[in-house]
Amino acid sequence: SHGVFTYDPGFMSTGSCESAITYIDGDAGVLLHRGYKIADLAQHSDYLETCYLLLYGELPTAEQKAEFVVTVKNHTMVSESMQKFLDGFRNDAHPMAVMVGLVGAMSAFYQDHMDITDPKHREIAAFRLISKMPTLAAMCYKYSKGQPTMYPRNDLSYAENFLHMMFATPCEEYKVNPVFAKAMDRIFILHADHEQNASTSTVRLAGSSGANPFACIAAGITTLWGPAHGGANEAVLTMLEEIGDESNIDEFIAKAKDKNDPFRLMGFGHRVYKNFDPRAKVMRETCDQVLAELGQSDDPMLKIAKRLEQIALEDPYFVERKLYPNVDFYSGIIMKAIGIPTSMFTVIFAMSRTVGWISHWNEMIGGAYKIGRPRQLYVGHTEREYPTDK
Ligand code: SDX
Repeated sequence: SHGVFTYDPGFMSTGSCESAITYIDGDAGVLLHRGYKIADLAQHSDYLETCYLLLYGELPTAEQKAEFVVTVKNHTMVSESMQKFLDGFRNDAHPMAVMVGLVGAMSAFYQDHMDITDPKHREIAAFRLISKMPTLAAMCYKYSKGQPTMYPRNDLSYAENFLHMMFATPCEEYKVNPVFAKAMDRIFILHADHEQNASTSTVRLAGSSGANPFACIAAGITTLWGPAHGGANEAVLTMLEEIGDESNIDEFIAKAKDKNDPFRLMGFGHRVYKNFDPRAKVMRETCDQVLAELGQSDDPMLKIAKRLEQIALEDPYFVERKLYPNVDFYSGIIMKAIGIPTSMFTVIFAMSRTVGWISHWNEMIGGAYKIGRPRQLYVGHTEREYPTDK
């Protein structure tokens, strides 16, 4: 009903693939989703419209969008048994560990009778994942706080509902600040997809064996967790807090340049962008808006971040290596200002990226594909005899 849900061939056995979803020009700092600039989507679209675009390849009509939103809302609740599954974790477990468990467990709840060769079944899996990720993410947070899970409210937008499930309690409603909701929706858009990054490649590789989509997304969440990838947004805040004051910035810049020091400037550099990450520019504007709304434009973290950015953009070490701020540099400051703990930052990245992961999974499964089999350059021993005389 939303259009054709099948695509051309996806994952080749060498690890590279054809894809029609996202285009990146790292040197020019260009990011397109189905041909639309990320800055235009961030300014004019919303997350669910962007989800529709990534999944189906075209922007929805008003009628298609309305139907899509209703379908997403009809899947926001999770099985009550998930709550029991949650109780098996320690309260101080990292929310990403819990998310990997809960999303992997979705295979046990929703995988039965799923035929991944059927576009309709794939579409239902996509809806279940996009709809339930915010509910599961908020459950992780509530559990860590020792507070009861808050059920989704279908009278709210996707971003408003997430903030409601995070911060409302049975005793008190959470009045969603529209600026916070808009900022969260923009964060969701900016993290939705990014071509063949490490976690998306993991989802494709897992999917190329025919594994069910819930297990593939759990594999993607695991990969995203690392500080070199999605875990960087949490690591940026930790770094800024460690810097503590603008007067300490030079010391950390020196550490970042010291080859004997494993320290990296979190939120800087990228495997592909050798220019400004176009998402970082939008994120910086959003950061200014949220902090202005809170009357915190002089937030010490923001001041350190802006000073750090300015120094790094002038420092020959970073300029020569084309190290620019990436999507993770400002997102954490925004989320911290909204009241989201740093431990939840990568969970929110995973929530947003789920639509990208499932769009790539579907693109591959919807066409002719082979099981992935990345190659190696063997540098070990040549054949040798076993020492039978020992
Ligand atoms: C994401 O792939 C994606 O699309 C990912 C992502 C997505 O949306 O999915 O965009 C999300 O993961 C963004 C990246 C978040 N990670 C961080 O912010 C962590 C800090 N950044 C680095 O760890 C690093 O920049 C990487 C991991 C992102 C990229 O590492 P590379 O490929 O090794 O970087 P490079 O080849 O461009 O490095 C060139 C030089 C090297 O020094 P030399 O050997 O040339 O002397 O720059 C150095 C690197 O050591 N370098 C840094 C640095 N990043 C690279 N030095 C200090 N601080 C840094 N952050």
